[in-house]
Amino acid sequence: MELQKAIESRRSTRAFTGRKLTRAEIETLLRAATSAPSACNMQSWHFYIIADVGERAKLKGICADWVPSAPVVFIVCTDAEAINARFGRFGAKFPIQDTSLAIENLLLKATDMGLGGCIIGAYKQETLIKTFSIPDKYVPVALLPVGEPAEEIPARERKNISEVSEYIGTAPEEGGEPRAEEAEKPFELRHAYLPGAEFEDLNLSGASFENINLSGASFENINLLGAKFTDINLTGANYSALNMSGSHFECAELNGASFGCCEKCEREGKYCVEMQQALLDSVDMRTSKLNHCNLEGSVLTDVRAVGSKLYDIDLDESSLSGVNMVSSGIQCSNLFGASFKNCCFANTSLENCDIEGMTVDGISVAEAVKACKESAK
Ligand SMILES: Cc1cc2nc3c(=O)[nH]c(=O)nc-3n(C[C@H](O)[C@H](O)[C@H](O)COP(=O)(O)O)c2cc1C
Repeated sequence: MELQKAIESRRSTRAFTGRKLTRAEIETLLRAATSAPSACNMQSWHFYIIADVGERAKLKGICADWVPSAPVVFIVCTDAEAINARFGRFGAKFPIQDTSLAIENLLLKATDMGLGGCIIGAYKQETLIKTFSIPDKYVPVALLPVGEPAEEIPARERKNISEVSEYIGTAPEEGGEPRAEEAEKPFELRHAYLPGAEFEDLNLSGASFENINLSGASFENINLLGAKFTDINLTGANYSALNMSGSHFECAELNGASFGCCEKCEREGKYCVEMQQALLDSVDMRTSKLNHCNLEGSVLTDVRAVGSKLYDIDLDESSLSGVNMVSSGIQCSNLFGASFKNCCFANTSLENCDIEGMTVDGISVAEAVKACKESAK
C-alpha cells in the first residue's frame, strides 16, 4: 500500500473479527514500530505482547471492555530508567516522543496489512503494572489493541491546516513550488532496449512503458498502480512485491514471466502482486507462473495463457474472454464469480479452487460439475 493511502485510511479500530494474528504478523508490526526514530537511537521502547486469551481477559476492568477482544494487545512501555540515567531532566519528553513515533509506525503498518488498532491512553496504570508484574524500569505509556477490523470505520473530521498551523516569518509563495509538481509527473519510457533491467523500490505509479524490450527484467517492491504497458516485450520477466492494480497491458509479451514468487509475501500471508482491476488485452503469457496474485475484477481479452501455472490467485468477479488456457493449471485459487467467454480449456486442470458463481460461456461451472456427478451415479 502506498504511504499516502495508509495515512489516509488508518482508523482507530475498536471492533475486531475473531481472526488471530500470526507470529509473523506480530513481528512485522514490531519491526515497523522499532524502525521509528528515537532520541540518540536509544530505542527506549519496550513492548509486552498479549495474544494469550487468558492473559487478555485480565485486562477487564483495567481499560475499556472492548480492548481485550482484540487478538493482540501491546502494552507499550518506555525504559524510563535508561532515559533518565542518560539525559536527566533534559530528556523528560523523550520517552513519550520515542514511543509515540513507534506507535504511529505500528498503526500505519497495521493499516498496510489490512489490520487496525487504537492507541489507548485511558487505563488504570497501577493495576496494569501489578496485573502483569511489569518491572519498575518499564513504564507503560499506552495500550495498543490490534486486529482485523470487524467493520468499515468512517474517517473522523480534521481541522483545516490553517487552524492548527501558522508560518513564522515569510511563507513560500502560494503555487510557487514547481518541484513538487514535477515530482508528481508519472514516469514515461518509450522505444528502448533494456533486456535484464532491474527495477527495485520505486514509485512508478501511473508510469507508461511503450515499445520497450524488457525481456528478463525484474520488478521488485514497486508501485505500478495504474501503469500502462503497450507493445512491450517482458518475456521471462520476474515480478514480486508489486502493486499493479488498475494497470493496463496491451500487445504485451509476458511468456515465461513469473509473477509473485517471493517468499517474504508468502510468509506474511499477503498477495505478492496486486493486479486488481487490471486490463490485459492481446497478451501472450504462455508458460508464465502466477503465485499469490490478486486479479480481482480484472479483464483479460485475447490472452494466450497456454501451459501457464496459477497458484493462489484471486480472480473474483474477473472477466476473461478469448483466453487460451490449454494445458494450464489453476490451484488453490478464488474464481468466485469469474466469467470466462470463448476460452479454450483443453487439458486445463482446476484443483482446490472456489468455483462458486464461476461461469463458462454463461454456464455455471459448479452446477455443471454437480450435474456430471449426478449423471455418473
Ligand atoms: C494520546 C491518545 C490517547 C488516546 N486514548 C484513547 C482511549 O483511551 N480510548 C479510545 O477509544 N481511543 C483513544 N484514542 C484514539 C482517539 O480517540 C482517535 O485517535 C481520534 O478520535 C481520531 O480518530 P482516528 O484515529 O480514527 O483518526 C487516543 C488517541 C491518542 C492520540
